[in-house]
Amino acid sequence: MQPVIFKGFAGTALKGDAFGSPDDPAVLLIHGGAQTRAVWDDVADALVRAGRYVIRIDMRGHGESEWPADGRYDFESFVEDLRAVLAQMASRPVVVAASLGGWAATAALGEEGAHLAAGLVLIDSVPDMDFDAACRQENLPGGKPCFDPAFTDTFDPEAAVDRVSSAAGQIKMPVLFVRGAKSELSGADEANRFLGHFENVEYAEIREAGQMVAAERADMFSATLLDFLERRVPRFAPEYRQGSDARTLRDALGCFATGVTVVTTLDQEGQPIGLTANSFTSVSLEPPLLLVCIAKSAGSLAAMEAAENFAVNVLHIGQQPTSNLFAKSGEDRFSGTPWSRGHNGAPLLSGALANFECRRFALHDGGDHVILIGEVVRARFEPRRDPLLYFRGKYRRLHFA
Ligand SMILES: Cc1cc2nc3c(=O)[nH]c(=O)nc-3n(C[C@H](O)[C@H](O)[C@H](O)COP(=O)(O)O)c2cc1C
Repeated sequence: MQPVIFKGFAGTALKGDAFGSPDDPAVLLIHGGAQTRAVWDDVADALVRAGRYVIRIDMRGHGESEWPADGRYDFESFVEDLRAVLAQMASRPVVVAASLGGWAATAALGEEGAHLAAGLVLIDSVPDMDFDAACRQENLPGGKPCFDPAFTDTFDPEAAVDRVSSAAGQIKMPVLFVRGAKSELSGADEANRFLGHFENVEYAEIREAGQMVAAERADMFSATLLDFLERRVPRFAPEYRQGSDARTLRDALGCFATGVTVVTTLDQEGQPIGLTANSFTSVSLEPPLLLVCIAKSAGSLAAMEAAENFAVNVLHIGQQPTSNLFAKSGEDRFSGTPWSRGHNGAPLLSGALANFECRRFALHDGGDHVILIGEVVRARFEPRRDPLLYFRGKYRRLHFA
């Protein structure tokens, strides 16, 4: 995260931060009245992970931006601030803006600002919304207000209504309008009326969210936003790497994200055996079948082929050390790993996200691997924890639903 500072209207200092790589296409996040840029924490994270460069700022009189001594909080000053910020950016961003921020963005881009942005996403920004409800926010913890009280005393929402509606009619770029179904600021009818002004607009309603969609349901909002960005303002034309060589094949296969398991059994002497495997796949529900592929070079192969019973243990996010341990040769894998015998004898790793106890169903040749198909005789899982993931040769974690 990099701090950024822009000069707004009449030199007002507007502070914010930037995330990700400036080489990626930019997204500018603008909060609503009586909020700060902190509302975007989760959305900014999701955008960066999807390959976007994110800048978010506090509006004048809000958060860390200047609270101007002249008390200028008329609509024009917000519109001019935004135009000034956009003009200082190195590339044309998609502007994502909530309530008052959305009004300012609509006016800034509709009135002679078309060249300044590549797209516009509005959150609950109908001009005839209940502005007082929008500004009825809690103060920040610690008692420090997050906005200048002079803002709500002097800002006149009436002055913005006609201007925002007619600016909307001038906007040609792709627009997405998002509304929380439970928003108290505006109803679906007002939203529909406003949408009628745009030439090129999509509408998305997020159930289970009020006006603070981006903070309340960041997961659903991010998914909607990313879908719009991918379709309407794509990152770049994909540059594929291709070939018939082993390296390209491995890297292409690595694009398929998986979970991570440890496959276990007992050898002829009754000693526990296990190895890390992400080649796990569910095969059939009736009968219940799954498979794992074991390398013919694996030390565990002979025991796995001979075993009547085995288990697949799905690892949770905290079990990366276990995954490493069961992938390294020459380690005593079980002495420090809590486990117990399942009903069929195969070792079950304690605390795994899920355990599948299997009876051997079939063994197939699979080139340099053996395909081991198991019939599941018993399964158990822990419903609350997140999985350990593996993608492009690295461990990963879920970041949004
Ligand atoms: C994330 C990950 C996934 C793996 N998946 C498999 C797999 O599906 N099949 C396999 O045979 N080896 C897989 N391996 C490699 C084995 O875990 C590793 O070679 C291990 O040392 C084999 O142990 P062994 O030689 O004692 O049988 C994987 C390793 C990692 C780190």
